[in-house]
Amino acid sequence: MKMKKHTEHVIVVVAVLALIGAGLGFYAYSGLYNIGADSHHWPITYNFAQMVRNRSIHVRSENIKVPNLNDPKLILKGAGQYAAMCTSCHLEPGVNHSELRVGMYPQPPNLSKVHIDPQDAFWVIKHGIKMSAMPAWGMAGHDDETIWSMVAFIEKLPGMTPQQYKAIVAKAPPDEDMDMDDDGGHAHTHAHGAEHAAAPASSAMPNVPAMPASAGTSASH
Ligand code: HEC
Repeated sequence: MKMKKHTEHVIVVVAVLALIGAGLGFYAYSGLYNIGADSHHWPITYNFAQMVRNRSIHVRSENIKVPNLNDPKLILKGAGQYAAMCTSCHLEPGVNHSELRVGMYPQPPNLSKVHIDPQDAFWVIKHGIKMSAMPAWGMAGHDDETIWSMVAFIEKLPGMTPQQYKAIVAKAPPDEDMDMDDDGGHAHTHAHGAEHAAAPASSAMPNVPAMPASAGTSASH
């Protein structure tokens, strides 16, 4: 008798779950859900997604060993990387708007205003964030040292004045030269040209032309 009652309960639970599953399937397939980036999530959905995102990043990044982020050479290298690849989405000191960023959802944080934990930043820059516009820069051929240079630079970025930003970017060697500069002491005085033809680093990301450092700063306002 008791056993039969139990079986009935199980059948009801399974039936209800199947109905919910079918309903979700119908809703998903019906096209009723608006995927448009200009149709924002409910706060509860957004907060849930943020929680999944933050926990996923944090669990993966908490044991990453952080190098010396105060190394001036690393910071300078990162300045060139940042100016070449990140400002269209993450802005720069004195610039609060970009045409690319305004319609993005989730919106990229303004890295000249917010501080990101270095371990999290390293993991996100290397691996990207699924279903957002944040690319996995590790897949574009950037080694860990280059990624740490970006982390070192964005550590210093909040609080930098537009003048300080422009000055450090102007001093930084351009993006594609740095990937070849593995011998450390090599000065960046060589001319562009012949070496580029042989550089695998720049051909590894054909869709991301390295902007001259000054283009990012002058085009924005
Ligand atoms: C095409 C746009 C785009 C470009 C280019 C881009 N990002 Fe992002 N980035 C995003 C978006 C969107 C997010 C936020 C994703 C989210 O909220 O889940 C993000 C998130 C991040 C975060 C994590 C911030 C946090 O709150 O934890 C860091 C760090 C970051 N980006 C660094 C960079 C660096 C460094 C570069 C250049 C090498 C770069 N990004 C280039 C779109 C971009």
